[in-house]
Amino acid sequence: MSTSLELDEKKLPQHIAIIMDGNGRWAQSRGLMRLMGHKAGVKTVQLIVKAAREIGIPVLTLYAFSSENWKRPATEVSGLMTLLKNYLESELISMLDNNIRLRCIGRKENLPGEIRETLETSIARTAASTGLVLNLALSYGSRDEIVGAAREMAELCLAGKLRPEEITEQSFAGRLYTAGLPDPDLIIRTGGEFRLSNFLLWQASYAEIFITETHWPDFTRKDFVAAIATFQKRQRRFGKTGDQVNGN
Ligand code: IPE
Ligand code: IPE
Ligand code: MG
Repeated sequence: MSTSLELDEKKLPQHIAIIMDGNGRWAQSRGLMRLMGHKAGVKTVQLIVKAAREIGIPVLTLYAFSSENWKRPATEVSGLMTLLKNYLESELISMLDNNIRLRCIGRKENLPGEIRETLETSIARTAASTGLVLNLALSYGSRDEIVGAAREMAELCLAGKLRPEEITEQSFAGRLYTAGLPDPDLIIRTGGEFRLSNFLLWQASYAEIFITETHWPDFTRKDFVAAIATFQKRQRRFGKTGDQVNGN
């Protein structure tokens, strides 16, 4: 299936990042355990990855687990890790079949060894794919990412391998986890909260933000297309005036 009739194929976002929130509330409102919400959320992930691929979005980043989410009850954390492992194992063939390239941003080293191995295997096996880049944010925190980049550059300076004046927006961005990826044009947050929760703070400078009350397990392909359609109606001015952008 090609892109929806609603969308202008020439104005597709090059990178969509999603804060997949609301799994817990979705479950609790149904009298279910929070983990059932995460389980239902995995189905939405499959649906939206397929949609992004079919619409022709080059990069899709999914915020799956934040550096702060480790503070949740141990049972929820281990349940989420199990879901992640099952997802990675069950999707590898489908990723290869669909020319999807897996990437990951975040502190991989904080993940349980078994998951890290599964993740590394999937990343390596899909490295030659040329279609959708599926970028999973795992144990990801934006401030931690920025401090890490600053520290790396400071060390290079101390070692005499970098001059302070060589620290530019471009070279700094090249030290972030997202090095080589375009900045997100569109950030979608489900679950209705008006915040970024430590997600892509540097990269989000000029992202268009779309927030929906819909909880992640209820988010559909139609909602995804609607978010992109809304994005396409926005005027991105990047600091200029509307007239300048329109060429007047
Ligand atoms: C998002 O859903 C998934 C993760 C953070 C792992 P939540 O679990 O945060 O759901 P709510 O916000 O409690 O409803
Ligand atoms: C953000 O959701 C993290 C993910 C979606 C993985 P949270 O539920 O952790 O965010 P807060 O705590 O409500 O800000
Ligand atoms: Mg939440």
